Amino acid sequence: MQSSLPLLIDRGSGVPLHLQLAEQFRAAVVDGRLQAGHRLPSTRDLARELAVSRSVTQAAYDQLHAEGWIEGRTGAGTFVTDVVPLQPAVRRRTEHRPDADAKLLTLRPGIPYIAPTPDPGWRRAWREVSTQAPPRGYDAAAGLPELRAALASHVARVRGIACDPENVLVTNGTVHGLRLLLAVTRKPGDRIAIEDPGYLNAVAAAHDHRLEIVDVPVDEDGLQVGALTDDVDAVYVTPSHQYPLGGRLPVARRNELVRWARRTGSLLIEDDYDSEFRYDVAPLPALAQLDLERVVHLGTLSKTLSPALRLGWLVASEAMVDRLATFRANSGDWPAWPMQAALLAMLRDGYLDRAVRRNRRLYAERRTHTVALLSPYGQVIGQDAGLHVTLLLPTTTDDRQIATAARAAGVVVAPLSDYRRTVPGPPGLVVGYATPSTPDLHQALKTLTNILSNRAHLRG
Ligand SMILES: Cc1ncc(COP(=O)(O)O)c(C=O)c1O
Repeated sequence: MQSSLPLLIDRGSGVPLHLQLAEQFRAAVVDGRLQAGHRLPSTRDLARELAVSRSVTQAAYDQLHAEGWIEGRTGAGTFVTDVVPLQPAVRRRTEHRPDADAKLLTLRPGIPYIAPTPDPGWRRAWREVSTQAPPRGYDAAAGLPELRAALASHVARVRGIACDPENVLVTNGTVHGLRLLLAVTRKPGDRIAIEDPGYLNAVAAAHDHRLEIVDVPVDEDGLQVGALTDDVDAVYVTPSHQYPLGGRLPVARRNELVRWARRTGSLLIEDDYDSEFRYDVAPLPALAQLDLERVVHLGTLSKTLSPALRLGWLVASEAMVDRLATFRANSGDWPAWPMQAALLAMLRDGYLDRAVRRNRRLYAERRTHTVALLSPYGQVIGQDAGLHVTLLLPTTTDDRQIATAARAAGVVVAPLSDYRRTVPGPPGLVVGYATPSTPDLHQALKTLTNILSNRAHLRG
């Protein structure tokens, strides 16, 4: 009996002959050329047909038999079994589309300028890390003790929060800290007040934790504390530089907010994302400085060094930090030792302070330039601080349409409407001036102002 399959033997391939045969039989069953119940030739006949030794065909059949593809029936021969073969899983490749924005100039808010060549302070910190052996076991879930101590002095000095190392937890940035906090302290259905317009990732975090989001209006001074109702369990707030409108919560409102939280037992979550960058006015101390029992403070390196570092800190009461660290100990979800060790070296060396000072000078110039160019088209707000300003446009303007036109002209800019939820307010553009090189910034602003000029009705 013939095999009825075109079988090929390749003596030069280096693959043992019996494996070559077995593989071809398998493939034939999988693709349906050999059906269940089909009788195979005897090992002797097949060996003759293929001019191989019988031990080769026998070994191939033994293999197929062991795998369940064929079975011997006494006195009748060898047959393909009726086990439905498992189709090999189709490997789906996600198509990696090139980043559509990569070639565009960006005025997106929130990403700092990063010089193409790292400076000596940066290199020194990483060299220092490379000379140390890593810790032996799982390092502490709250963060390296020396780093927590260095961060406690840092936030005391630059943000006025008097605290101990035990009040500090090292995080992978603001959003990581926020999500951890929500996971540990909130239950589904809790009400969380979030500024409207506000930070979309905070909204997404609350949404993912199935919290009820209460939209709280914002004015030029930030969160309207008077609008908070007593049935709210937590408040997310950006007091040093309201995102995205840029207001700075005045002292009276801060006091009112903390008084309200003490009375209601609500938790205040302070996102201090870009407080390092203030231009004409001195920074106010952090909200957390007023009451660490009621306020959890979130800081980040994302605006000062790079969001790619995924590094930040959370400052809270010792009991809260303990709770968060205990939760985290079970998840393994804390910043890797080399990152923490590098930040420690940067803090000790004064590198972070230097980087902030240098970029503050750069951004101050850029901000002045940006404000001057945008002012003819609307009211520019939030210019005292941060890495962006907001241009408020006449109410009849479609800010998304302007952003679309800008993108078509090669510039990415965020429409203010994207940050609004239910509280109405004027349209606008949130214009980041930090990310591009200075010539690219000038080019991007020129393109944007051309678009704004062409919409003549925008001019006041
Ligand atoms: C309001 C606000 N908070 C925090 C962050 C930074 O988040 P992370 O520290 O997770 O990078 C940003 C970045 O754009 C932001 O706009």
